Amino acid sequence: MQNYEDILVSGVESGVLTIRLNRPDAYNALRTQLLRELADALDTAAADDQVKAVVLTGSDTVFAAGADIKEMASLDVVGVMNDPRPTFWRRIALFPKPIVAAVNGFALGGGCELMMHCDIVIAGDNAQFGQPEINLGIIPGAGGTQRLIRTIGKSMAMQLVLSGEFISAQQARSFGLVSEVTIPERSLERATQLAKKIATKPPIAVRLAKEALLKAYETTLDSGLNLERKAFTLLAATEDRNEGIAAFMEKRKPNFTGK
Ligand code: CAA
Repeated sequence: MQNYEDILVSGVESGVLTIRLNRPDAYNALRTQLLRELADALDTAAADDQVKAVVLTGSDTVFAAGADIKEMASLDVVGVMNDPRPTFWRRIALFPKPIVAAVNGFALGGGCELMMHCDIVIAGDNAQFGQPEINLGIIPGAGGTQRLIRTIGKSMAMQLVLSGEFISAQQARSFGLVSEVTIPERSLERATQLAKKIATKPPIAVRLAKEALLKAYETTLDSGLNLERKAFTLLAATEDRNEGIAAFMEKRKPNFTGK
């Protein structure tokens, strides 16, 4: 297994790989090295058939406090233009398997944006979400303006991005930014439980479902429906679809093989 400094990567357990952001002295600030390591770990996980789903988490008190402001301070306009970070974000966004986030404490700036790259979010009730970039004279730079407005709507997205205010886990749930709120001690356990359940499902169907759902963010209803129909049709060619239907008819548990 590769050695990382800014993230901790577990072994695969019941199809689930757990990645923990690990910069405790800097509120898990997302320096370039951390994003590179995360993109590398996800690329490795994408190519590993044993990995069916990923859990992404931080510590008990912080998910991530955003881009590393100390690192960012040294970049002039040319430095920002040549910054490799957008390529890491792109690789994270293209990860084809489900990512379930367990978020406790702060998820701010790039931390909130990283959370929005995940497919399902379980939040501890101590979580706080925000896009405070405006206080630094900048704006969200890793998809925040686009993903936030598509997720929580215009007025709330404007409120977060323009005022820099934070919202609580309960508010985030009421806006659809997270799907469940737990006590902080249980968020990782619940995220892992969900990831393990997803890991028992037919992997090709899971992958196509994620692709089709994410397409809804960025396309018209008509072309989204078209993609869904094609994915649905494609699944008729899989062994797992035959197995799923046969198991239902025979009143037994399906044995999915990923074929
Ligand atoms: N980058 C670098 N270091 C950070 C950091 C960040 N984003 N957030 C916190 N830290 C560091 C602090 O500098 C401090 O380090 P030192 O002890 O060496 O001084 C340490 O973490 C603890 O921070 P605080 O003393 O500030 O702790 P606090 O409990 O009083 O406050 C906080 C916590 C509310 C998270 C506060 O640290 C904070 O507001 N952080 C910045 C949040 C932010 O603005 N994020 C957006 C970054 S820009 C971005 O993300 C752009 C993008 O979209 C790509």
